[in-house]
Amino acid sequence: MIKNVLLVFLVIHATLANSESASKKWLTLNGRRPSVIARGGFSGLFPESSDFANQMALATSLSGVAVLCNLQLTKEGVGICQGDIRLDNTTNIAMVFEKGSRTYKVNGQDITGWFAIDFTADQLLANVSLLQNIFSRPSAFDAMLPISTVDDVRSSNPPAFWLNVQYDAFYTENKLSVANYIQKATRLQGVNYISSPEIGFLKKINGLVNKAKTKLVFVFLDKNATEPTTKQTYGSILGNLATIKAFASGIVVPKDYIWPVNAANYLEAPTSLVNDAHKLGLEVYASGFANDFTTSYNYSYDPSAEYLQFIDNSQFSVDGLITDFPPTASEAVACFAQYTDIKPTKEQALIISHNGASGVYAGSTDLAYQQAVEDGANIIDCSVQMSKDGVAFCLDSVDVTRDTTAAASFMSLSTTIPEIQESAGIFSFDLSWSDIQTLQPQLTSPFENKGGLPRNPANKSKGKFLTLAEFLELAKVKAVTGILINIENAAYLASQKGLDIVSAVNTAFGNATLGKESTQKVLIQSDDTSVLSKFKNVPAYSRVLYLKDEISDAPRTPVEEIKKYADAVTLPRFSIVPTVNGFTTGTTKVVNEMQAANISVYVSVLRNEFITLPFDYFSDPTIEIATYTSGIGVDGIITEYPATASRYLRNPCSSNSMPDSSYSIIPAEAGSLLKTVPEETQPPASTPTPALDVADVVDPPLPAVTKPASPPPASPPPATSPHSNALQNIANVGLSLVAIMAFTLLSLMCN
Ligand SMILES: *[C@@H]1O[C@H](CO)[C@@H](O)[C@H](O)[C@H]1NC(C)=O
Ligand SMILES: *[C@@H]1O[C@H](CO)[C@@H](O)[C@H](O)[C@H]1NC(C)=O
Ligand SMILES: *[C@@H]1O[C@H](CO)[C@@H](O)[C@H](O)[C@H]1NC(C)=O
Ligand SMILES: *[C@@H]1O[C@H](CO)[C@@H](O)[C@H](O)[C@H]1NC(C)=O
Ligand SMILES: *[C@@H]1O[C@H](CO)[C@@H](O)[C@H](O)[C@H]1NC(C)=O
Ligand SMILES: *[C@@H]1O[C@H](CO)[C@@H](O)[C@H](O)[C@H]1NC(C)=O
Ligand SMILES: *[C@@H]1O[C@H](CO)[C@@H](O)[C@H](O)[C@H]1NC(C)=O
Repeated sequence: MIKNVLLVFLVIHATLANSESASKKWLTLNGRRPSVIARGGFSGLFPESSDFANQMALATSLSGVAVLCNLQLTKEGVGICQGDIRLDNTTNIAMVFEKGSRTYKVNGQDITGWFAIDFTADQLLANVSLLQNIFSRPSAFDAMLPISTVDDVRSSNPPAFWLNVQYDAFYTENKLSVANYIQKATRLQGVNYISSPEIGFLKKINGLVNKAKTKLVFVFLDKNATEPTTKQTYGSILGNLATIKAFASGIVVPKDYIWPVNAANYLEAPTSLVNDAHKLGLEVYASGFANDFTTSYNYSYDPSAEYLQFIDNSQFSVDGLITDFPPTASEAVACFAQYTDIKPTKEQALIISHNGASGVYAGSTDLAYQQAVEDGANIIDCSVQMSKDGVAFCLDSVDVTRDTTAAASFMSLSTTIPEIQESAGIFSFDLSWSDIQTLQPQLTSPFENKGGLPRNPANKSKGKFLTLAEFLELAKVKAVTGILINIENAAYLASQKGLDIVSAVNTAFGNATLGKESTQKVLIQSDDTSVLSKFKNVPAYSRVLYLKDEISDAPRTPVEEIKKYADAVTLPRFSIVPTVNGFTTGTTKVVNEMQAANISVYVSVLRNEFITLPFDYFSDPTIEIATYTSGIGVDGIITEYPATASRYLRNPCSSNSMPDSSYSIIPAEAGSLLKTVPEETQPPASTPTPALDVADVVDPPLPAVTKPASPPPASPPPATSPHSNALQNIANVGLSLVAIMAFTLLSLMCN
């Protein structure tokens, strides 16, 4: 069994200063900053209370972090750290001791499983190892780390140590004394907190510990559960907080005791619990925080937003946060709380929305764009689509089935167009603008089919779609730093549908004043270099080539080719930080190679939902943003949740040059977590990704805009792959002088 694998990336955290920022005033009981309590160490990443989990908690958290151990006792009374009284869920004990299962009465209920009290410490430590039982966390560290004893955890020297005694009555019934064990333990070394959901236990040890050094904390469980000593429900004890003061200095409550969540998963008004407890002189610790648990829609899948709700509202702050992901709680406490009006610095990465704040409202609607501006996006984006009658409007995809209710009313128009996408769809160019205006927006999530995580259902169909002209007007009124106009399928639209998307964009710009005399930035993005060429003669526009396919490298020749068409590229995340089995494998040189040629790099698409984040980012969207901006130095991030990016980028902790901040948000070092995975469980090497090639960059010129014959041709369109080379066949036929002339005239008009 591997006991110690070097955690290579821990070193970088060693420089964190431990001064507490004096300027912050907290609504905690003692006015000091709330503590961060790591439940089982960094149990969000490594098996609970394993050596890895504890070391990692110390390395990534705020100074003063408390490490919490859930105490269980072995046959001879040795304390080990395991959350469940049964060991079979979080260890491989059922394989090692096949016949070790027994049934015990625990607080009046029969429970069957493998209990620590049936085994000696030797048996458990020598042959049993830990497993991760939460599927969203890495299983790569399974069966390699031993169970930790209480002494093991304390020998890692946590700044504060918290012992939680979930079961005292059970051990007493089985002739083991937790109180005796604790008395010995506290005499040896400090235990800063002892908590328990059993009143009898807390009363028993009340006289046994030095309360100047050890705080006793009463743990509330589910409101309907019965407290073993008084046989009252925790809910009824809650109505009698004053009685707790006699044997404890604080309470632990599940987080919904403070901010209740309704059946629809929205937050309700807070209870008065924290203030009530503070009035009685009781500290309040909120429990149940984890970045990979589903939380209320009000938090938009941003775990920092949830912590802030508990420590940075105008009414109260809890005194501590008990979490499986201590670095995220640390960020909230040290960095995000009480920072609201920090101005962005000049060199900072641009925050570019993806269909507006499409994580919060249906993409490409007025509400999504307004929200993006409010949330701090520098650039709002419109992916231009064309209606049948030539109206340019904003929508993520030319296929309107996902983002609108079109499937209900226009199913008869569903068709398959291989040049655009493999599956059938209802395409914007088959609907008139008045048809499109009858459609309702639909807020969808890219993860809906992968086990849930819907987005803000209360506002699923709120908002209205905008024409490009209306979008430009909104951008002007809101005075955003800039806009990004994304253009796709230009060749198909021109040759097959008689629609000239390029001149539609130019006309809209011609009408709007934006982009010419105004100082607002205009980014024209396309996956097609011939579209970008059409905007070459407007020097104020920045042209962005969207390289959708994964690349591993960007050699000089194709980069020089890009330079002819574009000032910037948009790259998918995996062309910058490739991943395998949920782990990042390293960082490609593509960003450096582009930037060396003065080509800016934007990364696409960043989202908050934890299932889209490699383990290296700790299920924390802020760490991903930090990795691409502060770590890799991209020039912009394209995100569906601009609020999360803005909170990070406008915070002193995002900059390494803030010596007085008490904590830094450290970007992930791609590939280093994977190095801690033992070789046997390393994922197999995947087939290498190709480097960028000139052929991937250059597209044929756009074809002429030709009205389709009516009825439209019945012959099937040529089979093609989705882009660049894809449209060669059609494109070569259509090139005509007329098209070039028409465009030249239009761009003259615009200048
Ligand atoms: C084991 O874990 C799963 C998932 O966390 C849970 O549903 C189940 O009740 C647990 N079983 C025991 C015996 O703890
Ligand atoms: C651990 O397993 C080995 C091999 O299966 C066995 O010889 C040994 O007795 C076991 N140790 C304990 C303490 O059970
Ligand atoms: C708690 O008990 C009450 C009354 O018996 C019941 O209405 C409620 O649904 C229960 N709540 C939970 C969370 O079990
Ligand atoms: C959460 O969102 C719902 C729905 O928009 C809203 O009604 C409620 O006030 C929000 N709760 C809090 C505490 O902000
Ligand atoms: C839903 O929309 C309403 C108004 O359209 C807004 O007041 C509310 O805050 C929104 N709720 C959420 C959770 O965004
Ligand atoms: C541009 O403005 C003219 C005159 O105000 C108007 O007739 C035309 O419809 C506008 N075009 C667009 C695309 O908004
Ligand atoms: C990039 O731009 C800088 C300043 O604009 C210039 O000095 C440098 O030569 C340029 N490098 C390349 C490779 O174009």
